[in-house]
Amino acid sequence: MKYIRLGGLEVSRIGLGAMSMSHAYTGAGTDDAESVRTIHRALDLGVTLIDTAEMYGPFTNEELVGRALKGRRDGVVVATKFGFMSHTGRASGVDSSPANIRIAVEGSLKRLGTDYIDLCYQHRVDPDTPIEDTVGTMAELVAEGKVRHIGLSEAGVATIRRAHAVHPVAALQSEYSLWTRDPEAETLPLLRELGIGFVPYSPLGHGFLTGQIRSTDGFVDTDWRKNNPRFTGENFQRNLHLADEVRSVAEEAGATPAQVALAWLLAQGDDIAPIPGTKRVERVEENIAADGIVLSVEQIEKLDNLPAAAGGHHDEAGMRLLGR
Ligand SMILES: NC(=O)c1ccc[n+]([C@@H]2O[C@H](COP(=O)([O-])OP(=O)(O)OC[C@H]3O[C@@H](n4cnc5c(N)ncnc54)[C@H](OP(=O)(O)O)[C@@H]3O)[C@@H](O)[C@H]2O)c1
Repeated sequence: MKYIRLGGLEVSRIGLGAMSMSHAYTGAGTDDAESVRTIHRALDLGVTLIDTAEMYGPFTNEELVGRALKGRRDGVVVATKFGFMSHTGRASGVDSSPANIRIAVEGSLKRLGTDYIDLCYQHRVDPDTPIEDTVGTMAELVAEGKVRHIGLSEAGVATIRRAHAVHPVAALQSEYSLWTRDPEAETLPLLRELGIGFVPYSPLGHGFLTGQIRSTDGFVDTDWRKNNPRFTGENFQRNLHLADEVRSVAEEAGATPAQVALAWLLAQGDDIAPIPGTKRVERVEENIAADGIVLSVEQIEKLDNLPAAAGGHHDEAGMRLLGR
């Protein structure tokens, strides 16, 4: 496994997203023992970055990660997020007020069974709290030793600049993959100018780019993808050819489609650490092996030129929370 820097923080360049173990996708919470084995296998294979959030479950995903890391905390970069749940009574749930951050972080520390969070992200920008106040509170938590590095998620470029002026931001976590190219235009250049790392979430397109999802019939009602425009109606059918294109490059490269989707992201720069999510040992092994896949210039070009996906990458309410 190769290691890179997100700002001042060293991480394995492939991390593990723990969300689907407890939240949002079909099968979440059904086999915690396998999820714990998956985290352990990732650590054994050199992964250091484990990603969770207060809102996954809610709460149960942090508890699961905490259980898995018992006795194995050293050397692990534990990343979690606040700000998508309000403990101060805001109906929207989006709350990065100083009071809410403090309550959220105390809860995360307890559930994770640790006395510090390596990388603490604001989950979504809060339009009702100036980013300076949010980052000011995060900086206080750093000074108190409860947080080591700070991050933002899906923040817009102006907000990133303002935040970084208050306290160095180690990483931005936003959606980036073969079918979500939005960060390339403005965000990545700014991050590079400021020396901030990038953590692509949903790097496998919520599993779609692996080519294993040919129908959504098996999704349970609580599966977020049921309301995702790319997974619904005609869009889903139209998007299937994207997965087929990824598969054809994979066959040529002697890799799996998931590995190609990850190798393409890794080829974008050594300041990028994707966090593919899985709750299965077999798949975490497959995804981590993407670290050894080198795509040819022609293969990267073919992937670069894939047509745009049909449908937005979140539903309308979700889209309104991005890029603020
Ligand atoms: N900051 C944010 O707002 C935000 C939003 C979404 C996600 N995230 C973070 O990003 C992480 C990853 O994103 P994600 O889970 O949404 O999407 P993803 O990594 O693109 O895809 C995960 C899905 O792909 C499946 N999968 C994983 N590896 C596979 C393989 N090799 N072959 C076939 N299927 C495979 C998983 O199923 P199984 O689990 O059944 O293997 C799961 O359903 C999350 O865990 C979370 O930590 C952050």
